[in-house]
Amino acid sequence: MEKSKYEKIMDIATKRGFVFPSSEIYGARAGFWTYGHLGTRIKQRWENLWRKTFLTLDQNFFEISDCTIMPKKVFESSGHLKNFNDPLTECEKCHFRYRADQLVEEELKIDVTGLKEDALTRLMKDNKLKCQNCRGSLSDVRFFNMMFDLRVGVTGDEIMYLRPESAQSPYLAYKREIEALRKKLPMGLAVIGSAFRNEISPRQGFFRLREFIQAELQIFFDPGQINEHEEFESVQGYRLKVFSEKKVREISAKEMNEKLKFPKFYVYHLVKVQEFYLSVLKVPESKFRFRELGAEERAFYNKIHFDIELDLETLGGWKEAGGVHYRSDHDLLGHQTGSGEKLEFVSDDGKRRFIPHVLELSFGVDRNVWALLDIFFKEEKERTLFEFPSVVAPVDVAVFPLVNKEKIPELAEHLFKELYKNFNVFYDESGSIGKRYRRQDEVGTKYCITLDFDSLKDNSVTLRERDSMKQIRVKAAELNIVLDGLMNEGKVLKDFGKFIEAEPEK
Ligand code: GAP
Repeated sequence: MEKSKYEKIMDIATKRGFVFPSSEIYGARAGFWTYGHLGTRIKQRWENLWRKTFLTLDQNFFEISDCTIMPKKVFESSGHLKNFNDPLTECEKCHFRYRADQLVEEELKIDVTGLKEDALTRLMKDNKLKCQNCRGSLSDVRFFNMMFDLRVGVTGDEIMYLRPESAQSPYLAYKREIEALRKKLPMGLAVIGSAFRNEISPRQGFFRLREFIQAELQIFFDPGQINEHEEFESVQGYRLKVFSEKKVREISAKEMNEKLKFPKFYVYHLVKVQEFYLSVLKVPESKFRFRELGAEERAFYNKIHFDIELDLETLGGWKEAGGVHYRSDHDLLGHQTGSGEKLEFVSDDGKRRFIPHVLELSFGVDRNVWALLDIFFKEEKERTLFEFPSVVAPVDVAVFPLVNKEKIPELAEHLFKELYKNFNVFYDESGSIGKRYRRQDEVGTKYCITLDFDSLKDNSVTLRERDSMKQIRVKAAELNIVLDGLMNEGKVLKDFGKFIEAEPEK
């Protein structure tokens, strides 16, 4: 039987060093993954593009980093201890645990959004649902808190928690940072870091993890100015892709604000998120949409909640990769009450006091990395490749000596060292050139350079482009400029030379 697209990508990902199960030699546990050398490159590139896009939206946006273990009181105040629950049902025979809502949706093909324990239990009983593993009976549904706790200290009597979202760090840092940044709103505090959730059944491979990375920007702003943004006019004609009434519609930012009554401050940031996917990451338009979550579905802290969804064939369709969350004063107010510390913003003249509201731009880094693998994977008759845009490709360029003799390797190594200063370069001297091309295509390397006997004479090399497999001949000394033009300035291969007749790739 032919492998599914998911299996094909996972084979490449694990064998070539993108991602593989963590602690594998001791038997991997579901929901824990290692980024190999290629996966780490893509992740870093994605994170840096994220920083460049979102931290430059305002001079008062900054990144912080924080501990991941936090006191219990933090999560009493944030509401996670009470509300951060998933519905659990367990097989009474083999003790396999299921997320009850997912199981019911999968088996009965219905939407159970917002149903409580009793209603889910009733649905399971009425439809005689059984364990998918052993057909054993399933327990009544109960809510299960998704946070990991741990005992801290020598006596181990203090219970602390691993943060289930990076967002709490900026809320806890708010008091210090608003002073350090001279009391100016909006103020943005971002974290790129780990979060932990004891997911009940992390079955979807690299999608639902127990330890994962989030990139989240918390924007603290004056709630009196929610319908203002000084740049709104420049984006008002931008057409947002929003799923509503069973299809993706294009709605201008102006209409979102004027007709649908979403505040300007919120809509402006929807635009910036969509631009990030379509213009920076080059995700095809047909694979991106926002979806609004209704009151039953949205997170307990949100007043407005749009998910960022990507159409991922490996995971069966539209999947959440992030969200744009208007959290109001939920968190700062909770922490002010819980800690007894004043978290109000006081205007310079002392006349206005209020708790800032928060708009959160939230992204799951791992899901976004997987999305790149899914979206840019391509199969052709002779090869598989990742058609990554230059900005996220894990390797920019590979250097090959045609043969291992007559000073060609020395010349190739010299070139490798020259290019290494500016690009991610990989050196490969084993196997036929055709095989070396295939290996680089398979991991998405954008360009390959081959040095041959002519290179010894005139210092020229062959430059081959991954997607078209077209080749040109260029001077080695010009490669830094040529590659920069191709990768960073939107130039194309034929701007630098005529296509040459290439040998068939074997
Ligand atoms: N701070 C808000 C927050 O945490 P969320 O919707 O629970 O909101 C934000 O999570 C993003 O984090 C999700 O859109 C998703 O991309 C990622 N995420 C959440 N749970 C995850 C998990 N178990 N594995 C991988 N990524 C996850």
